[in-house]
Amino acid sequence: MGNGSMKSKRYKHPDGSSASFNGRTHKDHGAGFKNSLDSLRARVEELEREGKRKDEELCAKEQQIKGLQEQLAKQTRAMAELSEELQNKCIQLNKLQDVMKNQSGASASLGSRQPSIKTGGKGSPNLSIRIKETLNRRKGAKAGVSAEPSSRTYDSSSLPKFSFEKARVPKDASVKKLLCEALNKNQYLKRLELQQIKDMVECMYERTYQQGEYVIKQGEPGYHLFVLADGKLDVFQHNKLLTSITVWTTFGELAILYNCTRTASVRAVNKVRTWALDREVFQNIMRRTAEMRHEQYRNFLRSVSLLANLPEDKLSKIVDCLEVEYYDKGEYVIREGEEGSTFYIIAQGK
Ligand code: CMP
Repeated sequence: MGNGSMKSKRYKHPDGSSASFNGRTHKDHGAGFKNSLDSLRARVEELEREGKRKDEELCAKEQQIKGLQEQLAKQTRAMAELSEELQNKCIQLNKLQDVMKNQSGASASLGSRQPSIKTGGKGSPNLSIRIKETLNRRKGAKAGVSAEPSSRTYDSSSLPKFSFEKARVPKDASVKKLLCEALNKNQYLKRLELQQIKDMVECMYERTYQQGEYVIKQGEPGYHLFVLADGKLDVFQHNKLLTSITVWTTFGELAILYNCTRTASVRAVNKVRTWALDREVFQNIMRRTAEMRHEQYRNFLRSVSLLANLPEDKLSKIVDCLEVEYYDKGEYVIREGEEGSTFYIIAQGK
């Protein structure tokens, strides 16, 4: 036997009893057998215990693997979300670069010509600043771009009065909801106030285009922004296909928001149905909100004793410069030792 144990050799005793070679009798042999049985049993028990321990270990390892797999799945999901966000930001950046390119091209060709909308000097902020301000207002954004005229003194009193009621187009609540979601999904428009989005939805109207027809042509001025309701559109830049637009997506917003020419062409792949909003209506919605806010801020500033006797035009100029900032409980507004370039008026809180 390879493990070094020895098999006892048997021989016959003269009295007929048998004994093992090492001199053990049957009795001895019985006791030996019992011993080895006991030790075998003990060994089996030990092995069973060990097996159980190994099972438990395996179970724990399996749990650990499951936990790690869940963690990995979560991280994979987070990565996918981040890469989608990154992709969106890249698209947004590309679009803005196109807008900037358009604008620098336009300003070069215009030379030093000044913007079109000018003022009677009453001192209300111009539309670009208003759009920029409203775009920044929601979600607490701090920076924005707008290409509307740069004069701060825009007087809307010379313009024909806008009638929101006349611009309104009745539509189903379900359509309104889809339009609202489509506008809110847009990277730029989602910063508008909810009421402005709702007003835009109210004034949108249907426009259809046949297969192959251009909804938008690159380089042309923009008069509408759209939401695609039915069909498919392709976006081209210098005849190169950039992407496709699927239903309930907003497009044509850049030229409207940034007052630049169309940054790309949009062509109907098949017959499409869109909801359109006229640029003029959009601007009036922005203006309406901004004027309401201006009035609200002006009244607020008048109630501040330090500014109560300030001439109207100066007060209006301060209103133009006002920015609303929100602070959480415990947050510092000013820190001792910091350079001061802002003064604050508390509108609410302590
Ligand atoms: P606008 O420039 O007004 O007109 C063309 C529209 O095409 C533009 O607004 C955007 O809505 C859209 N557009 C431009 N570039 C892209 C792009 N890279 N991906 C998706 N849509 C785009």
